[in-house]
Amino acid sequence: MNERPEPKPGILDIQAYIPGKAKAEGIENPVKLSSNENILGSSPAARAAFMAAADTLHIYPDSRTTMVREAVAAHFRLEPERLVFGDGTDEVLHLINQVFLEPGDNIVMGQYGFSAYSISARACQAEVREAVEPNYRVSVEHMLAAVDDRTRLMFITQPGNPTGSFMTGEELRALHAALPPRVMLVLDGAYAEFADDPRFEDGIDLARDEQNVIVTRTFSKLHGLAALRIGWAYCPAHTADAIDRIRAPFNTSIAAQQAAVAALADSEFQERSRALVTRWRPWLTQQLGGLGLEVVPSQANFVLARFPTTPGRTAREAEAFLASQGYIVRGVGNYGLPDHLRITIGLEEHNRAVIVALSTFMRGR
Ligand SMILES: Cc1ncc(COP(=O)(O)O)c(C=O)c1O
Repeated sequence: MNERPEPKPGILDIQAYIPGKAKAEGIENPVKLSSNENILGSSPAARAAFMAAADTLHIYPDSRTTMVREAVAAHFRLEPERLVFGDGTDEVLHLINQVFLEPGDNIVMGQYGFSAYSISARACQAEVREAVEPNYRVSVEHMLAAVDDRTRLMFITQPGNPTGSFMTGEELRALHAALPPRVMLVLDGAYAEFADDPRFEDGIDLARDEQNVIVTRTFSKLHGLAALRIGWAYCPAHTADAIDRIRAPFNTSIAAQQAAVAALADSEFQERSRALVTRWRPWLTQQLGGLGLEVVPSQANFVLARFPTTPGRTAREAEAFLASQGYIVRGVGNYGLPDHLRITIGLEEHNRAVIVALSTFMRGR
């Protein structure tokens, strides 16, 4: 028998994160609507800042991410010392889990919650308790019922991925009020800037005042900087201090820092990105509905549509058909939604072409 170092128990039971596909067989330049990226690209100012960073490749970045810290604090009116930055929100989420979870502890998340939460919790040998989401919505009642005395963290995506649904501000506050104070409520606002429903709240006000609320945000979506990997969390001071003790010292690059500062200052690009989503999201929702598909009302930069189970009309076949037409969308079977496709909102011509292709598909071609 070969003896060899083995990963600790549980690691090999983890299903690795499945990114959105980027290729369609036989298609030269497919349109990628599978990862909720910004179809407008990124701010020209951020691009210029990135290019300028080429002159500093030999220098370590600022370990405190000071320029972005100051810019984010000013933009959102936050205390700078309570911000934590990371290699995308992904890393920040990992760090939160590492700080709080011991083996045998658990996290609570919605049944359709973002899979990164459960991956990093399991890496800490913690358990994952999933609360049912009736009608694709996180339910206060079910989330609270899943809490037990080993629960340390509760994750909510606000608005949700892949559902696009959201909790109202009222629901959020009711959930927080009933949560034991030893449980940290983590509100992942990767898509928060795209929400326009007046009942939506991003949770930052709650995080300002409470000792057990963290809000995370990313530069990957609204700002179109997914390639640069930079995200942040606004935490209680004691949590920011704990995370800072274990994070990698240089976890955001100079290029990411400089581009992020430029992006945050470019309100014109942000407005254009938001306007595209708020213009085409209701249109896509209505058109998909007109094709007989059930669409979850979305507050994010994508929509989730449910396909029939009839052979010839299934989500899997629709995904393949769209790919053959040059449009890559996201099958979400790994979220327990095998009959659904998640479609990122594209440019006008993409959205129209997706609907034309899907109406052909639904007619049986
Ligand atoms: C809900 C949610 N949280 C976090 C992330 C990760 O963001 P980042 O690019 O900042 O790591 C994503 C990316 O798709 C997401 O959908």
